[in-house]
Amino acid sequence: MTNEVNLQDIQTLDNGNKLVGGIEFPPRKVWVKTYGCQMNYHDTERILDHLGPLNFTQTDKKEDADFMIFNTCAVRDLANQKFYSHLGESKHQKAKEKQGRDVKIAAGGCIAQTESKELLKKYKQLDFAFGTDVIDNIGEMVYRAYAGDKKFAVTSWDRSDNYSIQTKINHGTPQAFVNIIKGCDKFCSYCIVPFTRGREKSRSTAEIVNDVARLVKYSGIQEVTLLGQNVNSFGKKNGESLAGLIMELEKIDGLELIRYTTSHPYDISDELIEVHGKSKKLANHLHLPVQSGSSTVLQRMLREYSIEHYLERLESIRAANPDIVISSDIIAGFPNETEEEHKETLDLLRKAKFDFIYSYNYSSRPGTKAARMDDVLTKDIRGRRLREIQALQLELQEDVRKEMVGKTYRVLVEGFGMMKGIKKWKGRTSCHRIIHFLPENEQQNLQWQWVDLKVTSATALSCQGEIIKVHGKKIIRQ
Ligand code: SAH
Ligand code: SF4
Ligand code: F3S
Repeated sequence: MTNEVNLQDIQTLDNGNKLVGGIEFPPRKVWVKTYGCQMNYHDTERILDHLGPLNFTQTDKKEDADFMIFNTCAVRDLANQKFYSHLGESKHQKAKEKQGRDVKIAAGGCIAQTESKELLKKYKQLDFAFGTDVIDNIGEMVYRAYAGDKKFAVTSWDRSDNYSIQTKINHGTPQAFVNIIKGCDKFCSYCIVPFTRGREKSRSTAEIVNDVARLVKYSGIQEVTLLGQNVNSFGKKNGESLAGLIMELEKIDGLELIRYTTSHPYDISDELIEVHGKSKKLANHLHLPVQSGSSTVLQRMLREYSIEHYLERLESIRAANPDIVISSDIIAGFPNETEEEHKETLDLLRKAKFDFIYSYNYSSRPGTKAARMDDVLTKDIRGRRLREIQALQLELQEDVRKEMVGKTYRVLVEGFGMMKGIKKWKGRTSCHRIIHFLPENEQQNLQWQWVDLKVTSATALSCQGEIIKVHGKKIIRQ
């Protein structure tokens, strides 16, 4: 093991190299592949931010990479398999070392947290592995790797009581992810996240408010998404709450839109529902994963709520904010789910009228309670049930989306694409839907502008609109 290095002490040499702890870092290219949820994508942003001072710039061309990072997800077996296959292919880049090119490869994130030793053993090309709670030490790990340390793993948990960070962003857009709570204490019976992300720990409201105010003032941020595996647990251990945090953020001048994800239905408080009614900046969208429409399955999932409770919460939220749009997650074929229980999920879809759902086949995760259950379901049954869920949702979604036609929505324009050979811009509404629209003229550059659009047509998967008003980079208020 090499001696500790002080990463605050970085010198830039005349040749453009950086000198750190006696080692020269020439300009190098880092390539990152991120899997999984928004928290992982945000961790990648943090990692890249730490690598800048060590002379790394990002590339999206694998073959140009001096340093390859895989930021992994373990939530379903498919995510694991994709990563193993991509990691396998990385040996071709590593082989360039024989031609004198110094190539390092690292695996981080949720698979690395629990499987680092096995990965390092199995994949010869892997230089090091790091877990989910050591992201901010990536600079030291990279230093160790270039100092000659081989095959090491850093997967320790931060033992301190508080969780204190400053948000790092480097994408130059007006949208930012802001971590407010890490970890998960829920231990739903099917889920690996509590094992890969550790115990819940919240930042303080004061720290987050200062952080966001700084992002708004100095980085041009107008929209924030507050992140956590269960943001409804935010602040519980220190007498604070998500509802309170939102009302504080609301006061920041220049911040236009506040989103949060993900919520657990058990913990959606009356206070939070009230905030959905009164907040001027909270988005008209709530992602509220239900997982199953059957209370008996929910019990086996250890989700803590019944379908009656879930539907009551939906009703209260919709009463507080009639414009709110709800989306959800569904797992098809939880162990021993009966045909009756599956039908209850189809029924729930009809009652809940979700705007969209993410739906998956149940995937057994090693170490979870559900993985120890005997299970009579076959892959075919699971597949069929998932298809039924998806087909019904598409049908229902068409009706939900049709209600948008004729209404006007304010969007933040995120980019453009070609649709049937015609350039169309696309913007995201406060309720999280994408609307495609034609510019007023071909030269018009609407990137990151606020635009009011009237919806002209909508299907289950696509929505078209026309410009009513272009505000520009700031919303014009009369
Ligand atoms: N914290 C969030 C979700 C985290 S994981 C929540 O509680 O809602 C994202 C989604 O992956 C979950 O909502 C669930 O639908 C799905 N998921 C998690 N574990 C799974 C498993 N073992 N098999 C299939 N889907 C799973
Ligand atoms: Fe997983 Fe449940 Fe925690 Fe969500 S709340 S991350 S599903 S254990
Ligand atoms: Fe996957 Fe880890 Fe997120 S398991 S879903 S990347 S918390």
